Amino acid sequence: MRKPFIAGNWKMNTDSYTSVQLAKDVAHGLEDIAGHPVDVAVIPPFVYISAVVGALSTYQIAVGAQDVYFEHKGAFTGEISPAMLKDIGCAYVLCGHSERRHVIKETDELINKKVSASISGGLLPILCVGELIEERKANKTEEVVKRQVEKGLAGLSPEKFSAVTLAYEPVWAIGTGLTATPQQAQEVHSMIRQLIAKLYGNQLAQETRILYGGSVKPDNAAELMRQQDVDGLLVGGASLSAKDFIAIVRASV
Ligand code: PGA
Repeated sequence: MRKPFIAGNWKMNTDSYTSVQLAKDVAHGLEDIAGHPVDVAVIPPFVYISAVVGALSTYQIAVGAQDVYFEHKGAFTGEISPAMLKDIGCAYVLCGHSERRHVIKETDELINKKVSASISGGLLPILCVGELIEERKANKTEEVVKRQVEKGLAGLSPEKFSAVTLAYEPVWAIGTGLTATPQQAQEVHSMIRQLIAKLYGNQLAQETRILYGGSVKPDNAAELMRQQDVDGLLVGGASLSAKDFIAIVRASV
């Protein structure tokens, strides 16, 4: 059985006070289910990660980063390495989030380097994939997602791949209030799992967690989580409300 994994991507939100407050509110609200089989992570902006790690030091809530660079150190002005993230207590890192693909124009090749470097640096990457609305309408969802998964994982050995979580986030569902139906999510998740089985064998495919993201809310979380191949949720907007994020975690255990 795959352990549910709920992660809150705060994106470019919060400040030095509200990031710590939000982390503490989430931690307090989940205290009574601390022993339950669910992994929870929050993903603040880089500059608040240390403060949030400090606030969560006595709780079983992991902290992640929203991005990373693939080099270890050196003359890469403005970038942050996997080693730096590890050093300040990050466990997870998002790679290839749709806003980085489509706003910042990251390529599959760059994302692949980030995934690989993250694992080498001791982080657990969450590789995000998902189609644009035009691609879905043109029946290209499978082709696009397949390409993003294959290129994102290119060259990874099975040992390295076992550190990876995948996240299917249809771009048209992110921040729009339009959630994929549970059936639409299941269909793509199942396709991704079959692809992983082809690339890495059935056992690793069965062990790999595939999260769904895109307008996840307290009232649609349980139904999404009931789908056989939906193993967790990557929550954006709703993770900025402690109450909503807590409700989503509770709906998932
Ligand atoms: P959303 O974002 O929940 O606000 O749609 C999800 C994401 O971008 O990870």
